Order: sequence, then structure tokens, then C-alpha cells
Amino acid sequence: MSIKIQTLSGYIHEYQKSILDPEAFWSRVAESFYWRKKWDEVVEFDFTIPDIKWFVNGKLNITENILERHLYTIGDKPAIIWEPNDPSEAHRVITYTDLHQQVCRMSNVLKSLGVEKGDRIIIYMPMVPEAAVAMLACARVGAIHSVVFAGFSANSLADRINDCTAKVVITADGGYRGAKTTPIKSIVDDALTRTESIEKVLVLKRTGDSVNMKPGRDIWWHDAHEGVDDKHKAEEMDAEDMLFILYTSGSTGKPKGVVHSCGGYMIYSQFTFQNVFQYSVGDIFWCTADVGWITGHSYIVYGPLLTGATTLMFEGIPTWPDPSRFWEIVDKHKVNQFYTAPTALRSLQAFGQEPVLKCDLSSLKVLGTVGEPINEEAWHWYHDHVGKGRCPIVDTWWQTETGGILISPIAGITPTKPSYATLPLPGVDPIILDNEGKVLKGNSVEGNLCIKFPWPGMLRTTYGDHKRCYENYFSQFKGYYFTGDGVKRDEDGYYRILGRVDDVINVSGHRMGTAEVENAINEHPRVVESAVVGYPHEVKGQGIYAFVIADMSDRTEANLKREIRAMVNNIIGPIAKPDRIQVVHGLPKTRSGKIMRRILRKIAQGDLSNFGDTSTLLDPNVVEEIIAGKDSALVE
Ligand code: WTA
Repeated sequence: MSIKIQTLSGYIHEYQKSILDPEAFWSRVAESFYWRKKWDEVVEFDFTIPDIKWFVNGKLNITENILERHLYTIGDKPAIIWEPNDPSEAHRVITYTDLHQQVCRMSNVLKSLGVEKGDRIIIYMPMVPEAAVAMLACARVGAIHSVVFAGFSANSLADRINDCTAKVVITADGGYRGAKTTPIKSIVDDALTRTESIEKVLVLKRTGDSVNMKPGRDIWWHDAHEGVDDKHKAEEMDAEDMLFILYTSGSTGKPKGVVHSCGGYMIYSQFTFQNVFQYSVGDIFWCTADVGWITGHSYIVYGPLLTGATTLMFEGIPTWPDPSRFWEIVDKHKVNQFYTAPTALRSLQAFGQEPVLKCDLSSLKVLGTVGEPINEEAWHWYHDHVGKGRCPIVDTWWQTETGGILISPIAGITPTKPSYATLPLPGVDPIILDNEGKVLKGNSVEGNLCIKFPWPGMLRTTYGDHKRCYENYFSQFKGYYFTGDGVKRDEDGYYRILGRVDDVINVSGHRMGTAEVENAINEHPRVVESAVVGYPHEVKGQGIYAFVIADMSDRTEANLKREIRAMVNNIIGPIAKPDRIQVVHGLPKTRSGKIMRRILRKIAQGDLSNFGDTSTLLDPNVVEEIIAGKDSALVE
């Protein structure tokens, strides 16, 4: 197995070595994997293009490192434990031997559907083990998967299919989440009226609800698997071949397809999983994310399975049938490492301590958080009531683009500090720059978080538009990868993430581009213009606040707001619905017509103290009017 840090001095030693000679460090990590052919060069890169290659000319298949590598040693060990939405339904245990058979069979199914190396496949599924099987089968045949979170609308799904010209959609009839059933297949049908590239749709039966099956296009998962061989020889992939595309929101209106490659992502997801969570043989690891997000990719599927770990996958939600569901699952499966989002903790905190205190939770060894800054109150609640003061909390900072965790405590080994992601992992050299691009050295500094040297798990491009990758991440500060986050390095050298410095907001740990929400709002026929900003929200971390200029001649304000929310729900999905909408007559603009978001952000936050220099405003009265109408912004 690859390098496992076991002591604080071990961390310090490995960290120093990794920064002095990253190539030697990462080649030592990569040595422990199975390669069909070893690499010629560890890394080649130029951030000014950007051109990033790891393990140049290395050949491998990531699924051989998950399946074949573990078959003879831990074939009987559970790879996936699946807990259904409804606690009265039986859970499922899939061993490494079972997983091997299922992935091989599914690989043969994909081949029979005409899937070739390099084809793009959309996975739009509920949280069932077949979603992981589908991802791995794509990787095995060399197809590029793009998982789309099943909460996204038909419109968002169609955009993603069109952007990557996908050939096949893998989906299900429906999905359960709490008391709700989602008609997943009919959303796919709707999306496919706006796409042209899809040849086949593979449909898993999950809810048994009746669905339309289009002859020649739609095939049931179970029919396609009938009589199919469970042996399959994995396709040989170059280390730099694409493994997957994952769409994420940025500061422009359209989500971008972040591309990860086979070799580097494999090394990085495994190395970070093993070290951050200090996974030991026999442990049960549970990450509560959805496979539609990067956290689900790296820490439900790839990281744990590459380690030979047992990964728990949960179909449901934390509050159904009651708010002790998470903790009952921990007890039922004796979970050792538990990884969730601060927003889930805050929503559970609101139900008081009883649902937690009634559970034993003594199996827990490590707790983790991801996706957004964790406030001190939630951190202490997690530490005291869930971890009973015994479990270190790893506050893991990373992004869809980074592929895996970059800054985080190493559980039980490096120190923790509430609301701090603390220290960089080996191989990661965070640099803080001021707005002029000057490096801020030493401690007690605050600025833009950048990374100077590549790490194997970083994005390679944005699908179909390399220029966009350059503009988004490499153009602001020459020679650096810019994360879009603000950060503070405190007097002890610990990092605290301060949140996004661009036009991205973080709603319940999900990234949302303000421009994306504005575009959806502007689709309403009566809306003239809109401006969206984030504001502090007790449970979601940030809520969505929309200022809207609209023709109100034939509508009440209440109706308009309802229609706007429905519109955003249809165009993007429920996660993007504005929490607050304020109808205004004008927006604060500079004389050149640029909206001064800084002012809107302050109003939305309720901070009316100092708007800074407003002398460049076209019409300063607009600000007074917006402040006066602020209380009308509440919806629901
Ligand atoms: C934020 C999720 C503070 C950050 C893995 C980042 C965090 C964005 C943390 C990426 C954390 C993630 N503390 N902020 N521990 N983790 N973020 O792509 O703003 O969905 O840029 O990846 O979430 O979100 P993404």
C-alpha cells in the first residue's frame, strides 16, 4: 500500500521531502499501484497554457487497481454496504468478488450497446450500488463517465449531455429520497427531447413505477444483463486519458465540465483517502455525499475502493423517517469513519440532542466535514455529541477541480482547530497572493489561495474548451492555479478558508454561480434584469438573494416571486431556488453599467454600515430605495 503517515514527525518529514522533491514523493506513492507499463516522466507541466501531465506514458486501468488487485487477498470482504432509504428494506453487502463480477458484466453490456473507448456516458441515477458499478464499468471499457446529480432538472441534464455529446444515458425508473419519489426516467425523457447525441438509455428498475420505454433506444438494465458473461479484460488506458467529466458551476453562466485523468486521479484519491481518514483494514467508512458530486466520486467510490476499504452508500436523507437516521445507520453498520457536510450537521442540530444521544456511536473513530466552512458552533456540536469528545474532526478543504483533499488535518496525527482546515497535505504548497499578485509570506496573512506546483489529482482541462480552463484558473495570477477562495494563514501557520472571492456562492455545500441563477431568473417574461448574491443562512451556510427589476403591470409581487422560484427550479433544479427575492426599480450601477455587487452583498447581509466609495454610482438614490424595501424580500 502507498505511503501512510502515522506520526506527527512522520508528517513533518514527508511534507518537507514532498515539497523539496515532489517527483520523488509522487513516484514513491505511484509505485504501489498496478501499472501495465510504468511511466517515463513523473510530471511535465506549464501553468501558463495550462499543460499538465502526470506519469507520462504510463499505462493502466483504474478498475484493475480496484478489482483484480484485491480479488485474491480480500475477495470476500465487503466493498460496498448499501443502506436503503427505507429502514425496513434490507440492506445489501457487495464483496470485492461480487463487485468484480458486476463490473465485468456491466462492461460487456456497455460494449454490446456499442460503447467504445473515449465515448461519453451520462449517469443520472439515485444512490444505489449500480451507480458505482456503472461508473467503474465505464472506466473499465475506457468510456468517460459524467455523473449528473439526480436533483438537477431536465434542462440542466440536457445541457450537460449536449456539452459532452454523450452517447448513452444510464438511469433508473425512479429514486427514493425520504418520503419523496423522484420520476427520474421521465426527467431523462424530457431532457432527451432537447438532445441529439444519445443512442441508448439503460434503465435500472428501482421503484417499479411505470415508465415509457422508447423502442430501439431504451433498454432495461436487467434485460441487458441477461446471459451476459461476467469476465472482461480491462481496456489499457494512458495515464493522461480522461477518466471522467464532472460539471460544476463557475462565475460564468454555464457550468463547466471539469476533466480528470486516469493515472493522477487514481493516485491522489487513494493517497488522500488513506491518510486523511487514517483508514485501517476492517474499518467501515461512510461518506454521506451523493455520487453526483466530486465528494461522492473520490470518497464513496474511487478512494475507498482503491484502498480495498469497505464503503457505505446511503440512499436516503438525514431527517427521514426521523432525525436520528444517520446515527442509527452508524450503529447498525458499526461505522468507523463518518464524513459529511456542515449543512447536514446544522440541520440536525436544530432537532436538539435527543436523536443523537439515544444512539451509541461508540464505533466512530474519525469525523470529517467538507464542502463549506464549518462554523464553530456546529464543529463543537459534532465533536461533543457525535464524537463524544473522542474523535478528531478532519475539516477537509478541496474542490471539484482538485480531485481530492488538499488542506486538512490528518486524523489523530496533526492538530485540529475549530473552523480551520489547518495544514496542507504532502505534495501541496499553498501560496497566498494579494490582489496585485504579490506573494504574502510568513504567518498572520490573508489573501487569495493559489497553488504553485501541480499535484496528480488536479483538473487537466474543461471539456471541449481549454481556453476556459486557462481563463478560469490560470489567468488571474500568472504561473499559479487560482482556487477562487480567500484564505487566512494565522499566527501558527494554520489555514482557514474564508469562502469564495468570485461570483460563486455555496448553498448547502453546493456550488452555484450567481450568473447561472440570474440567467434562469431572466427567462421569466416579465423580468427585465436581475442580480443575485449570497447572504448568511443559518442552515444552508449561504442563501440565494435575488434583486429583480420586473414589469409588474399584470402580476402581484407574491405571484411573480412564486413564478420565479418555479422557473429556477425548472431550469436548474431545486437547489438553485432563491430564498429571498426583492423587486426593485433599479440596481446600483457604475456609469459604465457594471452592477456594484459589493453593495448588494452588504445589503443582503444586513450590513448597512459602510458602502465604501459610492461616488461612481450612476444613481445613488437606488441604494436608498433598495434598503427601504429590504423587508419585502422574504419568500415563504
Ligand atoms: C468550498 C467540494 C471551507 C470552497 C469538495 C471551495 C470549503 C468549494 C471546504 C468547492 C472546507 C470546500 N472549508 N470551504 N473544508 N471544502 N469548500 O467543487 O469554497 O463542490 O472552493 O467541492 O467549496 O466546492 P466543490
